[in-house]
Amino acid sequence: MEIIAIANQKGGVGKTTTAVNLAASLAAKRKRVLLIDLDPQGNATSGTGLDKNDLSLSITDVLLDGVLLQDALVTSPAGFDVIGANRELAGMDTTLMGQTNSHELLKTAMSALSDHQANTQSKPYDYVVMDCAPSLNLLTINALVATDGVIIPMQCEYYALEGLADLSQTIERLTELNPKLYIRGVVRTLFDARNTLARDVSAELEAHFGDIMYKTHIPRNVRLAEAPAHGMPVIAYERWSKGSRAYQKLAAEVIKQSK
Ligand SMILES: Nc1ncnc2c1ncn2[C@@H]1O[C@H](COP(=O)(O)OP(=O)(O)O)[C@@H](O)[C@H]1O
Ligand SMILES: [Mg+2]
Repeated sequence: MEIIAIANQKGGVGKTTTAVNLAASLAAKRKRVLLIDLDPQGNATSGTGLDKNDLSLSITDVLLDGVLLQDALVTSPAGFDVIGANRELAGMDTTLMGQTNSHELLKTAMSALSDHQANTQSKPYDYVVMDCAPSLNLLTINALVATDGVIIPMQCEYYALEGLADLSQTIERLTELNPKLYIRGVVRTLFDARNTLARDVSAELEAHFGDIMYKTHIPRNVRLAEAPAHGMPVIAYERWSKGSRAYQKLAAEVIKQSK
């Protein structure tokens, strides 16, 4: 079981779009996938066709009440397992503040899930994908402590290089809490190849961070923006759209990284 956190402190860079569509594209390649929504906005949850306001159990119950992950998950209409989130998750930080091990709750829950799968001899997940909120709050820290690697969605705009340098430093600092933490890859999102600045920034990212950049660029594609309104990953909504094909390529790159 490989655990991947999709994180970037900036909002609107395509984290949720990447989490949902990477999960769906991995599942389409016959991988067993669990998607965990860690954003109170619940967009990853609704993006897989679940009603975020009608979840019998959510990630909030796991983190606050010790509900087991295997009890909180549902198979989404998108066809893979999801642990949903909604507004109830918003108060987490203040509730857990000062509690010892508050940054390890998800990691502990994840180990319990592994043990459960081993004991029941059920097939383990190949990938757990976690969608983080656009901040370095306690939920994101929980994800970064529980994860094996981070995928950073990044828009090719003026401050991208600085942003990525900052993020690398943050992740470096967090290795104190999770020695395994590393940047699995940076994926260029909302990419417009006709835009000169985007091309220049992309080339600079390649020059400075080439070893961690995915080759796949995710284009700006209207199908990617439309699909969530239908509660579908793009592969179910418009399988042959540019956006869908890009996420399938990204999934192939992610699989190639696995041992
Ligand atoms: N490649 C893309 N092409 C077109 N629209 C996109 C693309 N990626 C994301 N979007 C849209 O941009 C907005 C922000 O994306 P989202 O994935 O929610 O970002 P984040 O989770 O980082 O805040 C959403 O409305 C989403 O549908
Ligand atoms: Mg999001």
